[in-house]
Amino acid sequence: MENLTLPNTQDRVTLYAALTPQLRELLGEERDPIAAMANMAAALRATFGWHWIGFYRVMGAELVLGPFQGPVACARIAHGRGVCGTAWAEERTVIVPDVDKFPGHIACSALSRSEIVVPCLDSDGRVAAVLDIDSERADDFSVIDAHALEHICEILQPLLG
Ligand code: SME
Repeated sequence: MENLTLPNTQDRVTLYAALTPQLRELLGEERDPIAAMANMAAALRATFGWHWIGFYRVMGAELVLGPFQGPVACARIAHGRGVCGTAWAEERTVIVPDVDKFPGHIACSALSRSEIVVPCLDSDGRVAAVLDIDSERADDFSVIDAHALEHICEILQPLLG
């Protein structure tokens, strides 16, 4: 598959319903997690156009920047720090409607107004990476995004060891 086929709508439920099976097909044969993350970030960018979409991988005591789409970002985040480190430490999806009100938010870009971070689990159920998405719009993420992005991250699970 070279191109995504996406409906001409802004409705996220419809867009996720179209995108998720195409991601499964696109990544179904892939065994390398970096390659899969790279295409996943590009597909999410093409579908939703968010400001920054990318992965941080758990490496020892910190998160290390992985494949992403968007402006340059901080390369390393400690356990429990920022939104990403919090999602890792608490092993849950974190939605931040207003990044200015999240204590310890790490501002990689002044344009980011809201953020969602979804843990990606390995085959043993441990957090192996996080998917981080930043929006230029305040309050841009809801439980609809959380559930859909958690399903998308599950596609990576067999690749994460
Ligand atoms: N805002 C994130 C840092 C990563 S950048 O947004 C790409 C955080 O607070 O963890």
